[in-house]
Amino acid sequence: MDGIFVGRQPELAFLHARLDEARDGAPRAVLLEGAPGVGKTALLSEFLVHADCHRVVAASGEELERNLAYGVVEQLVAESGEPPPERLTVLGSDKVTGADPMRIGGGVVHLLDRLQAAGPVIVVVEDAHWADPPSLQALAFALRRLRADRVLAVLSVRDDAGECLPASLCRLVAGQTGARLRLGGLDPEELRALSASLGGALSPRAAARLHDHTGGNALHARALLDALPIGVFHDHSRPLPVPRSFRMLVVAKLAACPPEAERLVVAAAVLGIRCPLAIASRLGEVDDPLGALERAIAARLLEERPTTADLLVEFPHPLVRAAIYHDLGPARRAALHARAAQLVEGEANTIRHRVAAASGPDHELAAELAALAGRQARMGGSIAAADSLLAAARLRETRVQRERLVLEAVEQLLLGGNPSEAAAFTDDLLSFADGARRDYVLARLAMTGGRHAEAERLLTRAWLGNDPAVDPDLAPAIAEQLALHGLAHANAAQAVTWARRALAAGRPAAAAPSNLLDILATGLVLGGHAPEALAATASLPDRAVADAPECPDGLVGRGIARLCSDDLAGALQDLSLAQATYRRHRMPLPWGIIGLAFLAETEYRLGAWDDATIHAELAVAIARDTDQECLAPLVHAVAAFPLAARGIRERAVAHAAAASAHLRVVGAESSTAWVATAAALLALAADDEHVVAAALDPVGRLTDWAAVEEPGCQPWRALCAEALVGLGRCDQAEALLAPLEAVAAAQGRRSSLLAAGRARGTLEAARGHPGRAEAAFQAGLECASPLPMPFERALLEAAYGRFLRRIGRRADAVSALEAAQARFAHLDARPFLDRCRRDLDACGRAPERRQAGSRATLTRQELAVARLVAAGGTNREAAAKLVVSVKTIEYHLGNVYAKLGVTSRTQLALRFGQAVATPSPRPRS
Ligand SMILES: Nc1ncnc2c1ncn2[C@@H]1O[C@H](COP(=O)(O)OP(=O)(O)OP(=O)(O)O)[C@@H](O)[C@H]1O
Ligand SMILES: [Mg+2]
Repeated sequence: MDGIFVGRQPELAFLHARLDEARDGAPRAVLLEGAPGVGKTALLSEFLVHADCHRVVAASGEELERNLAYGVVEQLVAESGEPPPERLTVLGSDKVTGADPMRIGGGVVHLLDRLQAAGPVIVVVEDAHWADPPSLQALAFALRRLRADRVLAVLSVRDDAGECLPASLCRLVAGQTGARLRLGGLDPEELRALSASLGGALSPRAAARLHDHTGGNALHARALLDALPIGVFHDHSRPLPVPRSFRMLVVAKLAACPPEAERLVVAAAVLGIRCPLAIASRLGEVDDPLGALERAIAARLLEERPTTADLLVEFPHPLVRAAIYHDLGPARRAALHARAAQLVEGEANTIRHRVAAASGPDHELAAELAALAGRQARMGGSIAAADSLLAAARLRETRVQRERLVLEAVEQLLLGGNPSEAAAFTDDLLSFADGARRDYVLARLAMTGGRHAEAERLLTRAWLGNDPAVDPDLAPAIAEQLALHGLAHANAAQAVTWARRALAAGRPAAAAPSNLLDILATGLVLGGHAPEALAATASLPDRAVADAPECPDGLVGRGIARLCSDDLAGALQDLSLAQATYRRHRMPLPWGIIGLAFLAETEYRLGAWDDATIHAELAVAIARDTDQECLAPLVHAVAAFPLAARGIRERAVAHAAAASAHLRVVGAESSTAWVATAAALLALAADDEHVVAAALDPVGRLTDWAAVEEPGCQPWRALCAEALVGLGRCDQAEALLAPLEAVAAAQGRRSSLLAAGRARGTLEAARGHPGRAEAAFQAGLECASPLPMPFERALLEAAYGRFLRRIGRRADAVSALEAAQARFAHLDARPFLDRCRRDLDACGRAPERRQAGSRATLTRQELAVARLVAAGGTNREAAAKLVVSVKTIEYHLGNVYAKLGVTSRTQLALRFGQAVATPSPRPRS
């Protein structure tokens, strides 16, 4: 850059305003969009020169490095000059390819945390359309977790490439803390200023003409101003050179260079946007590299970039390189690539040049590429693998061979979480020869596009049309998809049948980790066969296997089976272990998310509601960031449970609404019971029986779905029956309740018998059978005592207490209600606690005064922070646990202190210790 910069005042003001907000602790993310060459980089440089901030860390995407997983994050870390936080030490090693974006994102949060200690930090990612997708996912995850951080992130993209960005990033910039800045061309006045800075003087009319001609594109306008004498612009009798002039101007400049400089520039163009001078000179057979470079710099065709290791040369703009590269004749280009393959380092680089050098089919190279793709896929580098496969396809001779490789590439794109890029191949695939693999890949595309019926039809056809002798890996893959389809669509039998078929067909050797055992176990549980699910997963380890490469298939499934069999401790162990293993390695989706959601559900049942909220909301964030829309209903529903029960209404309603909105879109019927239960719980907290019954109505109508008959899954029947009693619809309540009692008794499912006891007691009381009601409540209580399910137990005690009060046994009523009260208080289940207090007051007990500054007035994040700090955690530990910055912890803690009226950690611990550890003192009536 030569320091010439004109205009752009509104855009600069916009960026400075966002920086001011960030400086005040409101983190911001800006997406700067504009046509190639319009002036994005120049604008950012100008902004950064005057930006009053503590640190700038900048990185840029490179067209040729898009496959390099976490390349951009690595650049940012290197730029920061800080030692990488623990989560980022994997960068630069072999393991990085398959690293989990959420884990890396967590590392970025910690890095930003350190950097902003002394002042605001600006993170710049230039040419984000070329940034490697894992880096962008990690960045989106990190930026979303900033709260009170002094961080401004600016990402630049070419506006024809915006859709390449991951959806998570698009949502971030569309959200409250984000902004888009669209950069148009320079206006005629700015063009006049530009010409003046270059020593010319454009008339307003000439400037208008240049503006019409170039659209104000800075690169084009400047190239013309640089190249043409000023008189040409004022000669209105002749047209200005046509817009493709940029390329012609570059080529003309190149032609004017002495031969050595020309060869150096051409060699550099073949090597990439940036390369070591030494390699470019060897490739261009340049005897005097520095002399040639000097001429190239004078012609503004190259720039020098000294680094500690090497002298690098770089093109001043990607379009300069592109113009030179595309102007090479095919023979010269191929010859240079062939030679470059001998000079560059690294397998992927060498192969890239060999591919570019190939002039037609090349079996050997295609086979090498396919092998490379296999290695890349096994390392988790799906996108790199897809590119290698597509390159291999171009080198194959027969259509059959080509199509097979493209199909594999599309599958890799889907695996790598790039649905939009994969979907772009749909038309190609439709023109391919019919075949089982084509149907299978089309089915997966249909599934990601939410076209479930089409997916099932194609999968079935693929299964029937597949010849295992020809394509042995395909059978288990099709069967696994059909099993998943069954699971998502409330067909447990289909899930089990296909999971068994897939297991019988054997696992393909080279395939990505599969989750067949998870699918099988979950299908069995949902079909009412939890013991079989436990048997199928009995041989899995109970403890973490040190350095196990992946989370063992089946662990999540067993966790779910244990949860639904009332083995909450076992479920907690399996699901925590699964979660820890996924975090340490990578998160094969979607089972990582499913495991996290069920971990949250387990914690919810156990009464560990802060943990439940943290895990459920993490599952929500990951599902959203990785576009797993099918899981959105489940994760949002689980997130709603503890919030609804605590009366944190606004957030609970938001989750419940998101759950049902997603359910309408994705139609994953298996989540219906969860979504309905979330809505019902909200209504229960508001004491609205009509809404409880209405919310649960859709579950009852899912008659095919065995899961709703599996009592351990969701307590919807008892909840609905109880509401119906309240509405005077006792017969309907009976019809719901009787089957639950029968199945629960047959399976010995205590949690369900507990809930059924509550509903049965309420029903019999309403029918005027106090004796039967008493027996039902007592039976429920008996089931409750060995179960670590405080909320369910408290609901039962409260219902029992109300019954006792109505039949006049006041002292017994008070004791049951007080037991419930203590448990609700412990859980901080505020709406239920309030109701309990009203019931106790109705028993004649002196009204109790509420403590000022209740925990319940804290937001969910504040509660989570307060709890960790009260338990003795430092701010840094709390930040690590919640994957946020220390700044964010300090911010929440400040609010907590203010709301609770405390001034120190000790006071907070005391306050929390009292609220958490001991039930409130028992006032005597
Ligand atoms: N406001 C400006 N004043 C003077 N020169 C400018 C201005 N904006 C851009 N230029 C010049 O125009 C050329 C192209 O600009 P720049 O590299 O910023 O474009 P870009 O939008 O970043 O392009 P790309 O999409 O290819 O990255 C550069 O040579 C730059 O110096
Ligand atoms: Mg640029």
